Amino acid sequence: MDKKKILIQLDSDPQPSVFDRVVAIDAGTDEVFSYGGVRPERVRDLVHGAIFTRGPKDLKSTAIFIGGSDVTAGEKLLEEARRHMLPQFGLRVSVLLDANGANTTAAAAVRVASRHLELKGVPVLVLGGTGPVGQRVARLLAREGADVRVGSRQRARAEKVCESIRAKIADAHVEPVASGTSAELQADLKGRTLVIAAGAASALLLPRADRASCTTLKSAIDLNAVPPLGIEGVEVTDKAKERDGVICYGAIGVGDTKMKIHKAAIAKLFESNDQIMDAEEVYALATSIA
Ligand SMILES: NC(=O)c1ccc[n+]([C@@H]2O[C@H](COP(=O)([O-])OP(=O)(O)OC[C@H]3O[C@@H](n4cnc5c(N)ncnc54)[C@H](OP(=O)(O)O)[C@@H]3O)[C@@H](O)[C@H]2O)c1
Repeated sequence: MDKKKILIQLDSDPQPSVFDRVVAIDAGTDEVFSYGGVRPERVRDLVHGAIFTRGPKDLKSTAIFIGGSDVTAGEKLLEEARRHMLPQFGLRVSVLLDANGANTTAAAAVRVASRHLELKGVPVLVLGGTGPVGQRVARLLAREGADVRVGSRQRARAEKVCESIRAKIADAHVEPVASGTSAELQADLKGRTLVIAAGAASALLLPRADRASCTTLKSAIDLNAVPPLGIEGVEVTDKAKERDGVICYGAIGVGDTKMKIHKAAIAKLFESNDQIMDAEEVYALATSIA
């Protein structure tokens, strides 16, 4: 008989996320052990606690979830967690990184876009492309063969993101653009069929008049749920809502796909003890379910 499913939640914030705990239970986890304020130097002992208690054949029933609002901190925790597994003895557990919901949200945004557009070759503008969500959206789209403009108020910041994408995907079509002014936005949108806004909460990135200047646009997806929203005229609850010939999604409209992906990712952790789920793995799973 399979052992109880235990999810060990490592959260870089002082108070481990209630949201992540609830989703874990709803995804079929039996017990969630939550640790807050986790720093990289604490990870070794937590991983050892996970891998030394059950024998290798039962370790698929123990898994680690890495969360917290700081995605860079989460990435460091993941690196540490990997370092302290002992795969040569079969002593490892599966790990999912979803700090700040970045991996599941980015995967959801790209899957939602794929319902309406063939991603290969699609001309896209990713606004807020320098944040953890926007960077992942741009990278996942680049992997799908899209032609991606990465927007930032500072072009140099977008250039850095493009460099990091090119380092991972040799044939990526990515181009940094400045997107802070109306003139810049209108130039960035020229010829684009998809715009995804992944700007900070309460930051309006794309005013209505600038969007209206783009006659090629077919779909607009905004991930900011806190007013003012990121794309003016796209409502937070829009879900494949057609507005002036453009298929629109707001953050809540993308949210149920995100939740499905999040739950499926947790459930997948318990299929084997050798998975590391970061953006690409979460996206691959999302492709199979959403
Ligand atoms: N639905 C969900 O479950 C879910 C989960 C996670 C995140 N989200 C949402 O997804 C969005 C992206 O998340 P994130 O954590 O990647 O965002 P973030 O890091 O807070 O911000 C993303 C980018 O927005 C730009 N920005 C910041 N302040 C701005 C301002 N005042 N005006 C214009 N641009 C500004 C910055 O780019 P530049 O400085 O380079 O211009 C920044 O890199 C957020 O709205 C977040 O709330 C939703």
